[in-house]
Amino acid sequence: MSSSQFRHFHWLSIFFFIIGLTETKKRLCVVRNGSADCSHMSLNEIPQNLPRNISSLDVSHNRLVCIADEWLKLYPELVHLDASFNSISKLGEKMCQMLPLLQTLNLEKNQMHKMKTEDLNHCTNLVWLNMGSNRLMLHGEPFAGLQNLKYLDVSNNNLKSAQLSLKPQLPSLTYLALGHNDINILKTGDLYFLSQSSLQVLNMSSVPLTSVETGSLKYISSIRKLVLDGSKIGNLVLSKICTELSGSDIELLSLKKMNVVSINNTTFTGLKHTNLSSLDLSGNRLSKIEINSFLWLPKLQSLSMTDTKIKQLKKDTFEGLRSLKILNLTRALDATLSTIENFAFQHLGALETLILQKSDIWETAEHMFTGLASLTDLDLSWTKYSSSRTITNLTYASLAASPLKMLNLKATNLKQLNIGAFSVLTNLTKLYLEFNFIKQTITGDEFLGLGQLEDLIGTTLDMELSPFKPLSKLTMLDLSNNNMANIRETLLEGLVNLKVLYLQHNNLARLWKSGNVGGPVLFLKGAPNLVTLQLDSNGFDEIPEKGLRGLVNLTVLSLSSNLLNSLKESIFEDLLSLQVFRLQKNFITAVRPKVFQTPLANLSLLVMDKNPFDCTCESILWFANWLNTTKANVPDHSQGYICNTPLSYFNKSIMDFDTLSCKDMTPFQTLYLLSSSTVLLLMVTALIVRFQGWRIQFHWNVLISRTLGLSDAKAEEGRGFEFDAYVIHAEKDTPWVERRIIPLEKKHYRFYLKDRDSTPGTSLLDSIVDNMRKSRKILFVVTNNLLKDPLCRRFTAHHALHQVIESSRDAVVLIFLDDIHDYRLSRALFLRRSMLRPCCVLHWPPQRERIPAFQQNLLIALGKTNHWQQ
Ligand SMILES: *[C@@H]1O[C@H](CO)[C@@H](O)[C@H](O)[C@H]1NC(C)=O
Ligand SMILES: *[C@@H]1O[C@H](CO)[C@@H](O)[C@H](O)[C@H]1NC(C)=O
Ligand SMILES: *[C@@H]1O[C@H](CO)[C@@H](O)[C@H](O)[C@H]1NC(C)=O
Ligand SMILES: *[C@@H]1O[C@H](CO)[C@@H](O)[C@H](O)[C@H]1NC(C)=O
Ligand SMILES: *[C@@H]1O[C@H](CO)[C@@H](O)[C@H](O)[C@H]1NC(C)=O
Ligand SMILES: *[C@@H]1O[C@H](CO)[C@@H](O)[C@H](O)[C@H]1NC(C)=O
Ligand SMILES: *[C@@H]1O[C@H](CO)[C@@H](O)[C@H](O)[C@H]1NC(C)=O
Ligand SMILES: *[C@@H]1O[C@H](CO)[C@@H](O)[C@H](O)[C@H]1NC(C)=O
Ligand SMILES: *[C@@H]1O[C@H](CO)[C@@H](O)[C@H](O)[C@H]1NC(C)=O
Ligand SMILES: *[C@@H]1O[C@H](CO)[C@@H](O)[C@H](O)[C@H]1NC(C)=O
Ligand SMILES: *[C@@H]1O[C@H](CO)[C@@H](O)[C@H](O)[C@H]1NC(C)=O
Repeated sequence: MSSSQFRHFHWLSIFFFIIGLTETKKRLCVVRNGSADCSHMSLNEIPQNLPRNISSLDVSHNRLVCIADEWLKLYPELVHLDASFNSISKLGEKMCQMLPLLQTLNLEKNQMHKMKTEDLNHCTNLVWLNMGSNRLMLHGEPFAGLQNLKYLDVSNNNLKSAQLSLKPQLPSLTYLALGHNDINILKTGDLYFLSQSSLQVLNMSSVPLTSVETGSLKYISSIRKLVLDGSKIGNLVLSKICTELSGSDIELLSLKKMNVVSINNTTFTGLKHTNLSSLDLSGNRLSKIEINSFLWLPKLQSLSMTDTKIKQLKKDTFEGLRSLKILNLTRALDATLSTIENFAFQHLGALETLILQKSDIWETAEHMFTGLASLTDLDLSWTKYSSSRTITNLTYASLAASPLKMLNLKATNLKQLNIGAFSVLTNLTKLYLEFNFIKQTITGDEFLGLGQLEDLIGTTLDMELSPFKPLSKLTMLDLSNNNMANIRETLLEGLVNLKVLYLQHNNLARLWKSGNVGGPVLFLKGAPNLVTLQLDSNGFDEIPEKGLRGLVNLTVLSLSSNLLNSLKESIFEDLLSLQVFRLQKNFITAVRPKVFQTPLANLSLLVMDKNPFDCTCESILWFANWLNTTKANVPDHSQGYICNTPLSYFNKSIMDFDTLSCKDMTPFQTLYLLSSSTVLLLMVTALIVRFQGWRIQFHWNVLISRTLGLSDAKAEEGRGFEFDAYVIHAEKDTPWVERRIIPLEKKHYRFYLKDRDSTPGTSLLDSIVDNMRKSRKILFVVTNNLLKDPLCRRFTAHHALHQVIESSRDAVVLIFLDDIHDYRLSRALFLRRSMLRPCCVLHWPPQRERIPAFQQNLLIALGKTNHWQQ
């Protein structure tokens, strides 16, 4: 199988991808279910020919400069209008009168500048309005009429002030986005216009506030969420904002990437009189966290400080966080001298989830986790340590009082697990150990005490007794990506509850080889309840007969990227529940019912592309029919399942396989194998049907000469032929014959060509009969042209065959210039490839470099062994 085939696919997909890119501009609006999509069409105006009753219209990404009333008058039922990404600077004066039902209006990324009171005055039903990224200058009270507006986005408009109006308005507003504006000062009266609404979310991300006046947030005390991400405000302004939030309903404060470098016991004092439950300080360079900084947040449940540069977590850093449930410290400690002190988490008695992923820990202090009385999930994956580690029964002893269920130690520089390493973690159900350097032979004592364990992921195993024996509750075992080459048959013994087993990307091929010393290792024997099994990329080239025995509940089997070729008949016999079957990228050539009928019976997904299929009746007929009729999902089944052999199907899809030809072939093969008495009987019948007679006789002769090994050479000598071959070809193929066959005459071959050599005057038929007799071989240049040539079909070929039968020799040589299926060949010429010796069937190669080999074969077929020299 060639990799060039795959490259082919690759290029093809890139090609379609490029087509996809250039195809983004469409010529017509797409109208579906009451909505019209007219985006990306370079429109200068809104199309007038859409159904009048559409409720939704998308004209985004066009070249509109205004929205004219007469365009919209046609669509009075519009509820949603998206005109974002245009150059609109003006709205029709009667827009909302034309569109009385309008609820959402998107004008993001336009050129709206002067907004007047009248512009949106009648849009009383408007609920959602996005005017982000325009150049707004507010004249009058443009939002005054929006009685029902809930969502307003005026971000990124160069606004200098948060004051959108002088008078209270927008009574229904719950979300206001003011981000990316040049607001430096938040004055006391700026948000007065919201005094009658009950705002829930204020988004002021990336606003360069330098001053916040007292009382400025009092009009929005219903606020639950304040977003200040990316605002470069100093610590003083931050603590002022917290003070202004005192007594509000604030629950969630997002302070990401704000350049906060230190917090101390005054920063969040103002939040004392709130019920803040979530605080996000991610992306700040928090090198300094004074103790008692969080003293004021007893209701806080979630604290995120990911991507910070914390140097030290002291034993009182988190004092006061009595209700905290989640602490996310992903990449939080990122300094060469960072330390987590003993008892650093002691105040977090309610904490359930602690994430230290990718932080620099350096050393696990003896009492590091003491006090985490509610901790169930501890994620230490990818944490950095000063040296490779041995886990002893003391390492995680500080977790003894925690009801820990999940411990993730993926990629934590582990070298060794000592006996009882996890013995204090009696309630653990999930343990992740992959991407470590554990080289020892695991005996099982390492997992002592883990009676509740359900998932164990990643260790290296080659041992006499199953290390998992104590883990009878295990349901999922992930041993993938381990480069394991040796496991014992007993590996899974006792894991009666195991349902999911991952063994992909290991090196287990030897275990299943029939040549393995002591026979194949049937390592799945101990886990009869498997539901999901992944064995991809293991180098398997064989599956032993009993390799997958007994897995009656298996629903997902993945064997892709192995070297599987011919599969034994009954290997999949027990897979009665299989639903997902992956076998892509193997060397499978034949898909026969005896192997695949059972596993393919109830499938919902088959992925088996990129195999070098052999598209012959015997190998593929059943599968071609299955593919054509199955209800299972077979992604890419029309393009991805490609024939590698035979030549006539090379690089064609299995779906192009001509199944009809097989139907025709079956009786012949049977015939060929019938005993002599049956042949005799048939011959009698065939004699009556004259036309069939020669055919049977021919087969009979071929059979005799092949089995008795009669050589034709002796017979030839006695006859004295005048020509080496009688060449039969279509008139249209004359140029090829002149170029490729006639030159052989220089090498002392003599050919009879009807057009060239027939004597004028003699009858055509006599000439053919005579000259065929004088020729040692009969050479057919088989092309589509030949099959269409009436003379050839009606007489020449027929006679050639009689000639052959008469002289009882393999005198016919076929040269195929085109791909011609056997079925068509037999229809037109009454010939089949199977009638001839393989050396007498030649294919003209498309590749130049193969032409000499072809000529060599032709000479052999013509019965001489002189080598062809160029
Ligand atoms: C068609 O639109 C209606 C109303 O907008 C919606 O409820 C329904 O799910 C839509 N149907 C389809 C197939 O998109
Ligand atoms: C809109 O009108 C067309 C006919 O013009 C009709 O087929 C379609 O059902 C109507 N759709 C709705 C949502 O009323
Ligand atoms: C806040 O607004 C910015 C744009 O100014 C946007 O990217 C961000 O998603 C918004 N955040 C929330 C929580 O709404
Ligand atoms: C807390 O930090 C702020 C700003 O960095 C500073 O002005 C203030 O004095 C500090 N307070 C204490 C008690 O250290
Ligand atoms: C805050 O910290 C300062 C100095 O670090 C200290 O003097 C003060 O007592 C602290 N205040 C509280 C309430 O802990
Ligand atoms: C905080 O919640 C308590 C009850 O859960 C409530 O009584 C109190 O008013 C809330 N405080 C604020 C400032 O919303
Ligand atoms: C913790 O933070 C990381 C990085 O921001 C994020 O990907 C992850 O989802 C967070 N985890 C939880 C449980 O919030
Ligand atoms: C830890 O293991 C050592 C031997 O390695 C043993 O002496 C000690 O008793 C164990 N401690 C606990 C708490 O199991
Ligand atoms: C383990 O779980 C059991 C039952 O769920 C509970 O009684 C026990 O306290 C837990 N162990 C720890 C150390 O929390
Ligand atoms: C297969 O699953 C069924 C039902 O889930 C169960 O009763 C049966 O024991 C399982 N068979 C095997 C061999 O595990
Ligand atoms: C697939 O089915 C279609 C119609 O059902 C038929 O025309 C075609 O020949 C079939 N192809 C194969 C490979 O069976």
